[in-house]
This record gives sequence, C-alpha cells and structure tokens, in this order.
Amino acid sequence: MHPQGIIDLSVGTPVDATPDFIQEALKASTNAPGYPLTAGSADLRQAIRTWAQSRLGATGDFDVLPVLGSKELVAWLPTLLEAQSVLYPDIAYPTYSVGAILAGVVGTPVSISPQLWPQADFAWVNSPSNPTGRVHSEKELSDVVAWSRSNHSLVVSDECYLEFGHTALPTSILSLTDGDNTNILAVHSLSKRSNMAGYRAAFVIGDSKIIARLREVRKHAGMIVPMPIQMAMIAALGDDHHVAIQRSRYNARREKLIPALERFGFTVEESRAGLYIWCTRNEPDWDSIAALADLGILATPGHFYGEKGARHIRVALTATDDQIAAASKRLLDHQKISL
Ligand SMILES: Cc1ncc(COP(=O)(O)O)c(C=O)c1O
Repeated sequence: MHPQGIIDLSVGTPVDATPDFIQEALKASTNAPGYPLTAGSADLRQAIRTWAQSRLGATGDFDVLPVLGSKELVAWLPTLLEAQSVLYPDIAYPTYSVGAILAGVVGTPVSISPQLWPQADFAWVNSPSNPTGRVHSEKELSDVVAWSRSNHSLVVSDECYLEFGHTALPTSILSLTDGDNTNILAVHSLSKRSNMAGYRAAFVIGDSKIIARLREVRKHAGMIVPMPIQMAMIAALGDDHHVAIQRSRYNARREKLIPALERFGFTVEESRAGLYIWCTRNEPDWDSIAALADLGILATPGHFYGEKGARHIRVALTATDDQIAAASKRLLDHQKISL
C-alpha cells in the first residue's frame, strides 16, 4: 500500500461530471408513464441523424437506433444478427470476443489489414482503439469498406472514442461509403463523449435494412432505451462545446503522463487518440504492472486485450487532473531517487 494511496488508472470509467444541462434534461423528463419507442422518439432519431451527417459525414440512405450503452450492443449484435463467424482486432476490447461466444460462433482475432482476413460474415473494427489509441487512416477504413463489398459481409465500426482525437484525427467509416451504406454499421456512445456512462446511452447508425431487423428483434426482446435517457441524449447530441472541453482534458492528461511514463522506462506506442496510453518496457506485462503498483499506480495488463498485448500495459486517462499529476510526480520522483 502506498502512503499517499492508490491511483487507479486501470478502469476506463469517466470521472468528470456529466454536464449540468444534460442532468437538467434528464430531471425534466421523469414523468414517463408510457412505454418508450424502441426506435427512439422522433426527436431523438432526428438528433442522431443530424449529428451523423454533420459530425461523422454520413451520406446516402441510413437509419439510426438507440441502444442501452454500446457494450450491450457489442455483446449481443452477432447473436441478434445470427452471424456465422466474427472477426475482431487482435488487440481489442474483450467484449467483441464475448459477443462471438454468446452467439456460439467462431471468433477470430485479425490484424488491421483486411487483405489478410479470412472469410467471415461479420467483422469489427475499432478506431480510435481501446486499448492502443491507434487511429485508422482513411485508406485503412476504405480498405475495410472494400472488403465488406467484395465479401458481402457486415462491417461494424466501433467509433465510441471518435470525438477524442489528439495527434491523429479519427474518421468515421460512414464518411467513406460514398453514400452506399450497405452492410456498414457505426457504433457510437455518449458514455465517454458526454460523461454519461451511468446513463447507458449509445446508438448505432448505418444500413437501413439491418437496422430495421435489429429494431424488430430488440422491440420484442425489450431492449428499449428509457424515455428520460432519450431526452438526455437529445440534449447531449445538440451540443459540441462540452465535448471540446472533455477532449482537452484528456489530451492534457495524456501530455502530462506520457513523458513521466517514458522517464520511468516505458516506450509509448500509438496512443494518438481516445482514453488510453499503450506502452511497454519490453518485459512481461505483469512485471510492468508490479513496478507501477510499487508506486501505488494501478494499470491494466495488455494480455487482457489479446495475446499480442502480453508485453504491454494500458494506462487510462480517466482520473482527475490531480490524480494524473500525482501519478506523474510519483513516476518522476522515483527516477530521481534511483539516479
Ligand atoms: C471500444 C469500446 N466499445 C464499447 C464500449 C462500451 O461502452 P458503453 O457501453 O459505455 O457505451 C467500450 C467501453 O469501454 C469500449 O472501450
């Protein structure tokens, strides 16, 4: 136990407040005697649609559907769409693999490049990535769209960190389809964008036929976003200012922590956007975790995200500015003592 206590940089759960105007929208909507629409209210659908066009660059025919946080969708999408085989990044958010297990189908970890992917009817991409903070180039995303078209396979792009670009600017797959969104879905979440993880508010955008199928099955399965949450989502989507503030918070934390981790002996890789620093000391991940634990800093071992991560760790930026400053100081002070 460290005398100044533990600084937890292991779990990616937001710590900054939900903006007041979003809390107000929720409070103003507590009179909700009737069932909400699975499809989302007309106002929510319009808010998502407008945001998809203006922020993501979506064009052509597409539909939208609110979901109960994106983890729920990630875990159940292969089941709901009766996928036969699921591809996901070889260093990735573990729920992609969970989704294949729940569906009872083979899940295969794959590299970034679709030219190397095996045949499958369902593939996940994730940019910016959890855990690496890697951002796909437009070329890489266009190659994924081309793979979808030539294989007639569904591609689902998990873009829940898209708003948090830093040294690379993330692009939505929806801006690269030339208006033909057949077999393309993009998943978005307000958990991190608007510090609403406790609300469970997310949505999926894309191929109208697939969204219609999802809407139907989710309606009968009771996967319905509560009305007060729908109202809070409309408020959140109508404002970009709070997102810019949150982006600069995370980016300032990244700029503070990266040099301290480097002085401590870590090599930082990717980490160009999103909520995480991905780094290595060229040793087994548990050794790096133990070295940080000696300083009272908790991080996550990389093998949680796939075998390829076994010599890396993930450090989350979801801690207060004071905690990030304290963690940096512990890392730098330790270096001074050992010099
Ligand atoms: C890549 C990725 N997708 C989806 C989620 C799920 O987020 P939520 O369920 O809060 O929308 C997370 C959460 O950490 C994530 O890292």
